[in-house]
Amino acid sequence: MNQAAIDDLLGFLRFPSVSTQHDHAGDMRACAEWLRGRCEKAGLSARMEETGGCPCVVAETPKDSAKRTVLIYGHYDVQPPEPLEEWTTPPFEPDIRDGKIFARGATDNKGQILAHLLGVEQTLAEKGNLPVNVIFLIEGEEEIGSPNLGALTSKLKQELACDVIVISDTGMVVHGHPTLTFSLRGITSLEIRVSGPSHDLHSGVFGGAVANPATVVARLIASLHDEKGHVAVEGFYDDVRPMFDWEVQASEALPVREEDIRELSGVPELTGESGYSAIDRIGARPTAEVNGIGGGYQGEGTKTVLPKEAFAKLTFRLVPHQDPEEIQNLVMDHLKKHCPPGVHLEIIRGHHGEPYYTDPNSLYGHAARQALSRTFGKETALLREGGSIPILGTFQQILGAEVLLLALASPDCRAHSPNENFPLENFEAGIRLNQAVLEEIGNLPR
Ligand code: BES
Ligand code: ZN
Repeated sequence: MNQAAIDDLLGFLRFPSVSTQHDHAGDMRACAEWLRGRCEKAGLSARMEETGGCPCVVAETPKDSAKRTVLIYGHYDVQPPEPLEEWTTPPFEPDIRDGKIFARGATDNKGQILAHLLGVEQTLAEKGNLPVNVIFLIEGEEEIGSPNLGALTSKLKQELACDVIVISDTGMVVHGHPTLTFSLRGITSLEIRVSGPSHDLHSGVFGGAVANPATVVARLIASLHDEKGHVAVEGFYDDVRPMFDWEVQASEALPVREEDIRELSGVPELTGESGYSAIDRIGARPTAEVNGIGGGYQGEGTKTVLPKEAFAKLTFRLVPHQDPEEIQNLVMDHLKKHCPPGVHLEIIRGHHGEPYYTDPNSLYGHAARQALSRTFGKETALLREGGSIPILGTFQQILGAEVLLLALASPDCRAHSPNENFPLENFEAGIRLNQAVLEEIGNLPR
């Protein structure tokens, strides 16, 4: 692997571009500026686009009307690195060990998007032009639900017009196995805040006569599932369609075992909604998750207190045909209905993202599979994944273009976790994958 490419990635990873934490606003801008400069160096015309939030980088080749246009989307923002003490080396001081580069954002999504940029740069350097027109659209708010990208996409609708959108921000089913992700889950999020007494109370003096907000939060969370692991919110599954036969077959043919998933997660045993395999529970079924919970004394030892408030942060992963806003309303009704007396319940609505689904047998789907198989030397697996890329629904609506998700992350990449990593092998394959997919799309009959 060429040292200059590795140095570029190390430089990119040193920016602590955490979109959800406001004190990183300056780092976001510095990272975007670095990226803009890197796109220009690659031979593209590149600029920053303001969004009202974190800026986007738009970089493109000159338009040749005889060629198809491919929009490559990615994000330079990253998830918070906490808990810091669980990292072997600090999250923004990238370190290479055992052929992998460890840093927050290495696999999600800096390594993957940089591989595409380097693929374009190398083709331009070797051949002087590309088989297609390329537009890079790299945003800084994917990890917070892309709140400003829809408006920018509308504003730049003419310029961003494209035949197909290529994204590498998903995972391979097993390490080194070419994978086309044909479905992602959508998402809707909210936070519940339960408050009771006007101040923290002595739990011996008041306990028994006063509702405990922490207990109420726990009861509300428990009400979200039944004993078979189904989500117990009324109407939650109304729009969920059963899996098609071919989807069941594709899922059964995947080269992954439940034991692999168990091992990767580090749990003693897998659980979930009864009647589905682990891979289908993740990719093809909707879920309710608690992402954070708090309230009361968190320090050393005990403190006999009845906390005045408690909270939980919730997200719901959704599958095709479920409407994020509708589901959010159903969940709010459910929480209000299940909230016991004696407390105030505040519900704060959070971000949404539509589920994504495409036909892997379309013309572009075949081009993507061909490029993946050529790059990794195996037949491409078709996978439904559980993560979300919130802007995809908006892209499909505004740009009307098909989206191809070409996986480059490895299953043990630890995205969103401490010790996130990207194998250098995947980085190098990503560069070849970019060249292969642009070539396959360029060769399609018009
Ligand atoms: N790269 C992920 C999406 C992803 C993860 C797809 C795993 C397939 C498998 C993306 O950067 C991401 O993490 N998105 C967030 C969006 C959310 C904050 C709105 C997610 O899925 O949690
Ligand atoms: Zn992510």
